[in-house]
Amino acid sequence: MSKKILVTGGLGFIGSHTVVALQEKGYEVVVIDNLSNSSLSVLGGITKITKSSPDFENIDLRDKVAVKKFFEKYSDIDAVIHFAASKAVGESVENPLLYYENNINTLVYLLQQLKEKDRAKFIFSSSCTVYGQADELPITESAPVKKAESPYGNTKQIGEEIIKDTCKVNDNLSAISLRYFNPIGAHPTANIGELPIGTPQNLIPFITQTAAGKRKQLSVFGDDYPTPDGTCIRDYIHVMDLARAHVIALERLLEEEQSSNYEVFNLGTGTGNSVLEVIKSFEKVSGEELPYKITDRREGDVVAAYADTSKANDVLKWKADFTLDDALASAWKWQQTLEEKKENEI
Ligand code: WQD
Repeated sequence: MSKKILVTGGLGFIGSHTVVALQEKGYEVVVIDNLSNSSLSVLGGITKITKSSPDFENIDLRDKVAVKKFFEKYSDIDAVIHFAASKAVGESVENPLLYYENNINTLVYLLQQLKEKDRAKFIFSSSCTVYGQADELPITESAPVKKAESPYGNTKQIGEEIIKDTCKVNDNLSAISLRYFNPIGAHPTANIGELPIGTPQNLIPFITQTAAGKRKQLSVFGDDYPTPDGTCIRDYIHVMDLARAHVIALERLLEEEQSSNYEVFNLGTGTGNSVLEVIKSFEKVSGEELPYKITDRREGDVVAAYADTSKANDVLKWKADFTLDDALASAWKWQQTLEEKKENEI
């Protein structure tokens, strides 16, 4: 009997790629998504790849009663991978209460249900944003969590604390927080990928939309940082590597291999690349010249962040396989597929 996994936010960018990886590993998947930052077309994309459609429940996790009813209906859920959250740094500054309600209340309601089960397994989508500007690079999991630069980052820090405290007094609950660095790219079939709504806040979708002619030019937010070429450095990890890491973390929980019932892992490539290096890599893999201009720095940006991945390498036996070029090529293929689909719809 295959294990049944709930994936909240399963129609989102990382969520959808993880649903595919779970189904391909033989897990039965139930997706909860309220479609606030995704679309039902993603369910079709997943099904095209795996030839099997996960169960789908259009539920808003801010509705405590709906969450309770879900677990009454699906009493045989073996584990939960929790992606559903708001994630735009800038928006969180303008609308903090939306972020505290959507990212914290929902986590509490899920954990309130899970702690009642005999055995509960929980994976939390966290972020390197919890480190702020780390004092030392590469960043290890023991780097101090610094005051968040945004309400979004704060919700990830608070979320981790809520899970840690709950695990402390509920030994029937085992959990892992995965701190992603910068997720980018798309599934090689280009049936699923990143679907930013409106103007992309993140670098890679803005680059691919610019190359596709949807944006006039890319603004590079500052080239006067203390880095080799003056632009910020990040650890860009292929979403396929990230999805695979979730399946490995899940199996660690299901096989009860943990030494403690709460663990944290960085998920990155361990390599830092600057914005200008990303542009150069994109131009190489796409053959497109990318129009860009240097503009002022963006409020809240850290100078550099890239992962020390030795804990995930040693404990999860996981490491990122794809390169920056691979990820950018897949993002560009996805963007071109989106444009073709739009042209065919006209
Ligand atoms: C990357 C670099 C920008 C856009 C955030 C969250 C993180 C995760 C990923 C959710 C920075 C520069 C960007 C542009 C630019 N979110 N940039 N022009 O800010 O590192 O991380 O998104 O999972 O938790 O903190 O990612 O892609 O926005 O920026 O120059 O139009 O690209 O200054 O140096 P970031 P990003």
